[in-house]
Amino acid sequence: MARSPALRRRAIARVWQPFTQMQDWETEEFPVVVSARGTTLTDADGRRYIDGNASLWCNVHGHRHPAIAGALKRQLGRAAHTTLLGLCHPGAIELAERLVEIAPPGLNHVFFSDSGSEALEVALKMAFQHWRQRGEERDTFVTFGGAYHGDTLGAVSAGAISLFHGLFRPLLFPTVQVPCPYSPRDPGGAARRSLASLEKALRTRRGRVAAVVIEPVVQGAAGILPQPPGFVAAVRELCNGAGTLLIADEVAVGFGRTGRMFACEHDGVAPDLLALGKGITSGYLPLSATLATDRIYEAFLAPWHRMRQFFHGHTFAGNPLACAAALASLDVFRRERTLDRLPAKIARFEDRLARFRGRPHVADVRSRGLMGAVEVEARPGRPFPAARRMGHRIILECRRRGVVLRPLGDAVVLMPALSMDLRTMDRMFDVLEESLPAAVRS
Ligand SMILES: Cc1ncc(COP(=O)(O)O)c(C=O)c1O
Repeated sequence: MARSPALRRRAIARVWQPFTQMQDWETEEFPVVVSARGTTLTDADGRRYIDGNASLWCNVHGHRHPAIAGALKRQLGRAAHTTLLGLCHPGAIELAERLVEIAPPGLNHVFFSDSGSEALEVALKMAFQHWRQRGEERDTFVTFGGAYHGDTLGAVSAGAISLFHGLFRPLLFPTVQVPCPYSPRDPGGAARRSLASLEKALRTRRGRVAAVVIEPVVQGAAGILPQPPGFVAAVRELCNGAGTLLIADEVAVGFGRTGRMFACEHDGVAPDLLALGKGITSGYLPLSATLATDRIYEAFLAPWHRMRQFFHGHTFAGNPLACAAALASLDVFRRERTLDRLPAKIARFEDRLARFRGRPHVADVRSRGLMGAVEVEARPGRPFPAARRMGHRIILECRRRGVVLRPLGDAVVLMPALSMDLRTMDRMFDVLEESLPAAVRS
């Protein structure tokens, strides 16, 4: 097999990387990953890295888990892909049944897509169409400051990261944005202000709000911004009071990431629409799902000629291989008691994160479950100049020491697979402890 430099040259010539300034990319000695096992990645030169990013937050049980790999091989022996448009297959049926079993109560109908963005897009369109078909013109979505829900235009409309979304504003539908529920200096106050603003937004637009869209418990891509206990329940109550829908985007926080199977469970909340992705297949294949209540589903039922069906569907929706991986992943959750084993891991994760508090250049440390971030600053209250790309520098130092992480601005994100053992987790934190001051000195 070709070695890294030759592969890198070919990649630079032809592969346009996501979220990447390609001019800088040429100068970066990025790893070309050729294999992975457990929580270790191996590049084309045989260098090994701890996957501290869970392959973009989606790997749950580790790479090449024999149960998931075996299920995929068995499914390959039957069919790699058949369509859900006009047909169905046993994997989609069983997966839909099992998702309904484990999801918060009342979410009885499962619509499959391929990516998290699409799952959210589907939730927005379902909410909108459901109101139209109930005779109500509710066109407004209420979203939270800092939110990220994906990169397709509907998901971007619901998002609020101006760096990613600002340019596309003329292409987006307007939303009402209430303040982000987290601020490092005043987390409780930020959550209270966010709720007060939501209450006002719903009161002043009574009868016009199609849904409130929330990433419950932690806003991930916003920078791992946690919400206080009870926040999601308070949002649910405000939605109930206003007679509007609640869309929960659990693309990042679902499948054990926050310590429970679904983040909404922390507050005992059941949304009206639930978007799932990433960890649904333990990160083995692209698949996502939007779960809906009976009430929403029934708004689409009518004699055929009234054209009330949901006109939406992707070629690879509910792909049989992806469904097989997802079913195998749910089996692993059960067999390996993945959720029962999380508290000890989360305790160690929090303990190691806490050691960063008060260190030079550490502005904020935050986490929930196995999602964490260490945010750095030049001086108290003063960020590093953006051009220094300090978050990026830190992850490059980590990579040199054998750990793959990814920053969000100057927040270094730690997102291990749920299967990461304590020794590997310790090594990941040891490397970050060394890398942070090394990057600042560089
Ligand atoms: C909360 C949330 N929603 C949606 C998405 C989009 O998912 P995908 O990248 O699979 O389209 C992401 C991706 O990071 C996410 O974090």
